[in-house]
Amino acid sequence: MITTYYICSFNVRSIKYFNLNEMRKIIQSKYPSNIALVKYWGKFGNQMPCNASLSMTLSEAVTEVELTLDYKSKKEIEFDYFFEGNKNDSFRNRILNYIENQIEFKELLDHYALTIKSNNTFPHSAGIASSASAFAAISAALLKAKGEEIDDDFNRKASRLARLGSGSACRSFYGPYAMWGELNKHKEASNEYAIPIQEVHENFKEMRDAILIVEDKPKKVSSSIGHSLMNNHSYAEKRFIDANKNCEEMLSTLKRGDYEEFIQITEREALSLHAMMMTSKDYYMLMKPGTVEIIDKVFQFREETKLPLCFTLDAGPNIHLLYPVSIQEKVHTFIAEELKDNTKSVLFDKIGAGGIVL
Ligand code: DP6
Repeated sequence: MITTYYICSFNVRSIKYFNLNEMRKIIQSKYPSNIALVKYWGKFGNQMPCNASLSMTLSEAVTEVELTLDYKSKKEIEFDYFFEGNKNDSFRNRILNYIENQIEFKELLDHYALTIKSNNTFPHSAGIASSASAFAAISAALLKAKGEEIDDDFNRKASRLARLGSGSACRSFYGPYAMWGELNKHKEASNEYAIPIQEVHENFKEMRDAILIVEDKPKKVSSSIGHSLMNNHSYAEKRFIDANKNCEEMLSTLKRGDYEEFIQITEREALSLHAMMMTSKDYYMLMKPGTVEIIDKVFQFREETKLPLCFTLDAGPNIHLLYPVSIQEKVHTFIAEELKDNTKSVLFDKIGAGGIVL
């Protein structure tokens, strides 16, 4: 946990006016992951989504970033990246490539030696989108390093830049729910950045997410490959139409506080995502027997108790159980008694409000 923050004693509008007496800047940021209720699956052009998606922002699963900028006179790029205390070449190269490709950030590399230290509060391969929280935290820190004011525009700019690193990252700037992608009738919605969802019923303001780890090994097929398999997928066109419709309906559901419809859309979306994987030309399956057994038990639990518990899946075998805080005790008992055989561990998270950069 980051407990103390070093706040820069100066505020430069642009590094072109960098004061040579201030040789070092340190920026810290902390941004959450998010779990999609309506899934982004398929992209085009420069990280544009093929359909609108909608997510719930988490609060405990976060990436904490410390960005250090040391003024340099040499022209060569100096960039270090530490993940959980260790140098990590593959992450370093991905992040460096990202920074070099954003005109907004490229200038930082010309003037400073950059060091990024990144830590996650959640384990690897846990079914939590680590690229979402990481790119949100990194893009916000870099934007702040450029001297960008933290005002109303900041989140929008950072969301757009984070999207270019990883699509789902753009939704981590707003809580409790965010939407990304153009949608008929919603002029403010954009393919470039996410927007906050303004109208949320009390029923959906105190949601919980219990992440059940069924499998903790890295998945065999990356999300990037998954997205690319949506090009020329036989069902792609229909899937994108359905997802937009689900997004539209979810907006109305969140406003009305309708648990039944929330459950239907959320579960249908999770299963559609996996159906796309299973029906692509190079088909594959990420669900495990334990995943299916848990889903079946969730159906049974709902049948018997009539309580508003539902599941969703990311691109992996692990299950996110979503429920309002009012039924938390019953869900915890259900997990402990009924799901323990298929669950290696559980991460308890809850709905969140977004991140912070200092
Ligand atoms: C299944 O955002 O990880 O989690 O843009 O290639 O980095 P890239 O993909 P990524 O895809 C996320 C897919 C998903 C659904 C979602 O979060 O909407």
